[in-house]
Amino acid sequence: MEPLYLHRPVLAAPAVQWLVTDPAGSYMDCTFGRGGHARLILERLAPQGRLIALDRDPDAAAAAAQIADPRFRFVHTPFSRLAATLAALEIASVQGVLLDLGISSPQIDTAARGFSLRLDGPLDMRMDPTVGESVADWLARAPQAEIARVLREYGEERFAARIAAALVARRAAGRPVASTGEFAALVAATIPGAARAGRKDAAQHPATRSFQAVRIHVNQEFEELALVLDSALHALAPGGRLAAIAFHSLEDRIVKRFMAAHAHPERAADSRLPLRAHDLPAPRLKLLAKVLPDEVEVAGNPRARSAVLRVAERTAAPWPQREAEGGGGAASRGGEPRPHPNPSSLGLAGPRRSSGAELRSAKHRFRPPLRRGGSNSLPRLRGRVGVGASVPQEGISPGEAE
Ligand SMILES: C[S@@+](CC[C@H](N)C(=O)[O-])C[C@H]1O[C@@H](n2cnc3c(N)ncnc32)[C@H](O)[C@@H]1O
Repeated sequence: MEPLYLHRPVLAAPAVQWLVTDPAGSYMDCTFGRGGHARLILERLAPQGRLIALDRDPDAAAAAAQIADPRFRFVHTPFSRLAATLAALEIASVQGVLLDLGISSPQIDTAARGFSLRLDGPLDMRMDPTVGESVADWLARAPQAEIARVLREYGEERFAARIAAALVARRAAGRPVASTGEFAALVAATIPGAARAGRKDAAQHPATRSFQAVRIHVNQEFEELALVLDSALHALAPGGRLAAIAFHSLEDRIVKRFMAAHAHPERAADSRLPLRAHDLPAPRLKLLAKVLPDEVEVAGNPRARSAVLRVAERTAAPWPQREAEGGGGAASRGGEPRPHPNPSSLGLAGPRRSSGAELRSAKHRFRPPLRRGGSNSLPRLRGRVGVGASVPQEGISPGEAE
């Protein structure tokens, strides 16, 4: 049997330090994985504190079952169901929400899960293999234009059209790609050698971008992220914190844009309109920190190389009355957190894919992140910040950033 605790958590100490401000509070770890962050959160909590952990992966559920702690509760569900989960647990608000995005090392290192470029296995890549469609099944039926779009938008793959054409030609010849090895070999054979040599990421396997793209697609990662950010903001009590660790620039930009939009609502206002300060919505978030891994962490854990932790704090700005009455989210229902009800009465057990309506509405809200160099791009800070350094966010002085 695979050992269950093989994931080395990234940016664990800073993430948990920024997250936990009240040891007696309620916290959510939306990406339990193998529980690296969750265990550290539990270490910081007082006996009255509690931690609700979510993960859509059944193997994560098995790992969570090893934690016997009355303050801990695991729910096997996609994190887009955060609001429904809190409602079922009768928790009105929480003091912190952690997102450690992407996939865990055990997921990558288990060939049968189909995430690995190195280990040949069935081309699956679903975080919850009990629901949805595997990459192989999707590639066996998707129109060529859709495959090309996914590779381009979610992998920023320059040769998206060529790779999609090769996949469809192979399928038409009665040999659809079925394994990670076949997919990786097809992509490598399709990208011209000269183009590969000139790429900034030439040291990576040529199929790295394509693997990322199809994984994001079959797991609806960006729609899930849009939904959980929104629900987390509704669930946070004033002073509560949202901490999100992203591993590639596309997902980091979604987090960054979300936090910035709620910290600076005035930027969305039309500057041609004669608005006075009190006409503008009050910021619901205050940007606290951006943290990169230090050299020691990167040397010991190559997965940390691309990680970015962003932290923002919920202000006391209220939700508009109508939204609060209409059940805007867990926080808007008011009231103090209550003890956990009986787990069997919650109807939360087992996987549930987010409903079509939930994901469609997230898609509506989700705009693809701006490309590199766009007006939203970050200054390049890596190498200029100290070890494990927190970089105060725009407009925040170091003192304000703790
Ligand atoms: C980087 S790992 C988290 C590792 C964890 N922090 C630890 O220390 O072990 C990401 C985890 O998030 C889960 N995940 C990703 N997207 C999810 C989603 N939309 N809903 C629930 N879980 C998700 C994955 O299954 C994976 O286990």
